[in-house]
Amino acid sequence: MDEAFSAVVRRSTEGRHREAERAAFLGDLVRGRLPLAAYTAMVAQHLHIYAVLESAATVMRDDPVAAAFIHDELTRRPALEADLHALLGDGWRDRTPPSPATQRYTARLREVCFDWPGGFVAHHYTRYLGDLSGGQYIAAAVRAGYDTTATSFYAFDGLGHPAAFKTRYREALDAAPWTAAERTRIVEEIHIAYELNIAVLVDLGREYAADQAA
Ligand code: HEM
Repeated sequence: MDEAFSAVVRRSTEGRHREAERAAFLGDLVRGRLPLAAYTAMVAQHLHIYAVLESAATVMRDDPVAAAFIHDELTRRPALEADLHALLGDGWRDRTPPSPATQRYTARLREVCFDWPGGFVAHHYTRYLGDLSGGQYIAAAVRAGYDTTATSFYAFDGLGHPAAFKTRYREALDAAPWTAAERTRIVEEIHIAYELNIAVLVDLGREYAADQAA
């Protein structure tokens, strides 16, 4: 039997995932070795990224294939805005510009997520399945290691159990009527999505490293 597409995706991007997971910035963050400002900076970059991804979702809702992946309960933008408000107070919008890596990421999202359903799903998968997996661990570590509860970004209310949702998501990947060539293109785009995420983490790591922590 042919390997399910969701399994192909996971297997062929495993190395990239390992690279993302091992980013020095995330390691320092979850060990509580950075200032709270480092977490705030990551939340700010997330907002720029999700603003574009979720604006693509409003367009892709009308696409019969992409629509199967879109769920209102996934929407992260309001939670990110609330977290930034809690972290920085009024005026947070003026204090959270996108980093150069985030600008490259959002440029790619604009390029592929608004008129290519497969490209949209590639980026959608990389972020939301990550947030529902390692993200849950990051949130717990941030709450434990820093004096903050501004982690609503990681709380997916109304989605049910993350593991059950991820199973349904993988079933949707397997059921989508993509040709072999399109599947290959989507996997390539997921690699790009990981690279863009890693670059954002490397940028953050340049600004915040453990030896700078108080
Ligand atoms: C502290 C860092 C991280 C940890 C500990 C971590 C951990 C995990 C774990 C345990 C899973 C498997 C969950 C399951 O099978 O249900 C997973 C899946 C996943 N993670 Fe991460 N992760 C981290 C960072 C990231 C980053 C930075 C991204 C990308 C932005 C990412 C994207 C994903 C994706 C897309 C999946 C789904 C893979 C699949 O089953 O197809 N992760 N992660």
